[in-house]
Amino acid sequence: MSPFSSTTNPTASNAAAELPAPTPGRILVVGGGGRENALAWALARCPGVEAVWLAPGNGGSAGIAGCHPLPVAETDGPGLLAACLDLAIELVVIGPEAPLAAGLADQLRAAGLSVFGPGAAGAQLEASKQWAKALMVEAGVPTARHWPADNLDTALEALEAHGQPLVVKADGLAAGKGVTVAATLAEARAAIQDVFAGRFGQAGNSLVLEETLEGPEVSVFALTDGQHMVLLPPAQDHKRIGEGDTGPNTGGMGAYAPAPLLDAAGLEQTRRLVLEPTLQALRARGIDYRGVIYAGLMLTAAGLRVIEFNCRFGDPECETLMPLLGPELAQVLLACASGRLQQAPPLSILPGCSACVIAAAEGYPTAARSGDLISSELEASADRQLFHAGSRRDEQGRCLTAGGRVLALVAQADDFDTAFARAYDGLTQVHFEGITYRRDIGHQVRRPSRVGAAPGPGQR
Ligand code: AMP
Ligand code: GLY
Repeated sequence: MSPFSSTTNPTASNAAAELPAPTPGRILVVGGGGRENALAWALARCPGVEAVWLAPGNGGSAGIAGCHPLPVAETDGPGLLAACLDLAIELVVIGPEAPLAAGLADQLRAAGLSVFGPGAAGAQLEASKQWAKALMVEAGVPTARHWPADNLDTALEALEAHGQPLVVKADGLAAGKGVTVAATLAEARAAIQDVFAGRFGQAGNSLVLEETLEGPEVSVFALTDGQHMVLLPPAQDHKRIGEGDTGPNTGGMGAYAPAPLLDAAGLEQTRRLVLEPTLQALRARGIDYRGVIYAGLMLTAAGLRVIEFNCRFGDPECETLMPLLGPELAQVLLACASGRLQQAPPLSILPGCSACVIAAAEGYPTAARSGDLISSELEASADRQLFHAGSRRDEQGRCLTAGGRVLALVAQADDFDTAFARAYDGLTQVHFEGITYRRDIGHQVRRPSRVGAAPGPGQR
């Protein structure tokens, strides 16, 4: 039994709410990654959900029971609105940060739709590191000390005055590449120069310098209607490409949940010290935040610190977590979107462990090869899921690789050793030229003798 299920859900006491919370029959999920396929899969399983559309989805979307890909880009606001009206969509769930930061949720809400995902104002939590840090300071949220800078001279002066290497963060969205954890002053100077030389485009008109913290990292997700929240089990991902957590950063090579690093008391502390004050500070700014707040935490010797906020689910944390969520998910997301989370039934968290391993294309994260045929003889089963991420269908309907992270293999079991064994076994049944994955995902929670014992090609 998960130790989190009893404490993660403040709506549990409202189980006897008088009005039954409506279930959205027709749902649109916006986005085309593994995260969106996992969301669509989990929503389509909820009783009362008739159909889920994915715009644009990817090569695997049509294979998910009850789901239909829709060829509309996630950036095409008018196209998405027209599709919602045509299809009589009752709930829109927006997956990626870019359309959120661009105000897609605002556009759709203005037309009367129920949307899970913050508007552009709330999405600044992720889209502007300066804005997010200022909000954290105002709210008293524990985070690294920081120095904002809007030009090269100010940034370099702050670095020299500090006299130690600092973490350099481009202010805006930089597809996960805007952060340099500098080991030396020279590296920090070079990173600052890179930012102001336009390496991150508009995202680099300003930056934040941060003191360097140390400790394990864990991701916490709060589903909120702007007032109340439900916390999901904490998850841990593996950002580095190489085994032993080495090499360049990626979008995430695998994940597991619930991460024992943050026990029930730690999760409760995160709610009290981080999430509630953040929500309050958002409200104080007039922001009605309806969606997910993703807090990236570092557990330092001095206590927990927020490393970053995101305005969306993590990927691959989302693929890892969705199989652990109960059939109330669709009702809960609609209740968040409608500002009525307290009327929703408690979101049940299933017992057990979930393990996710990403199969990437050769060359990722620098230059991923693409266009390779994907095949699979994996049988559908209740405790193992294959979510496509970077894949597409060609004119003949064949499924081809089309991105760095190609597939997410997720499995559940009573313990992590079994869950990972099941995920790695699944990976031997999916194929594409150049398939690459880490064999040590979850090494923190697996018996040492089982780490790296996975079958298959592993890294090439
Ligand atoms: P972010 O994009 O803010 O999540 O940063 C990417 C990664 O950089 C994080 O997952 C951490 O591993 C690392 N990082 C960010 N901020 C800090 C910090 N203040 N101290 C040490 N590492 C950090
Ligand atoms: N897995 C990390 C992220 O989604 O940002």
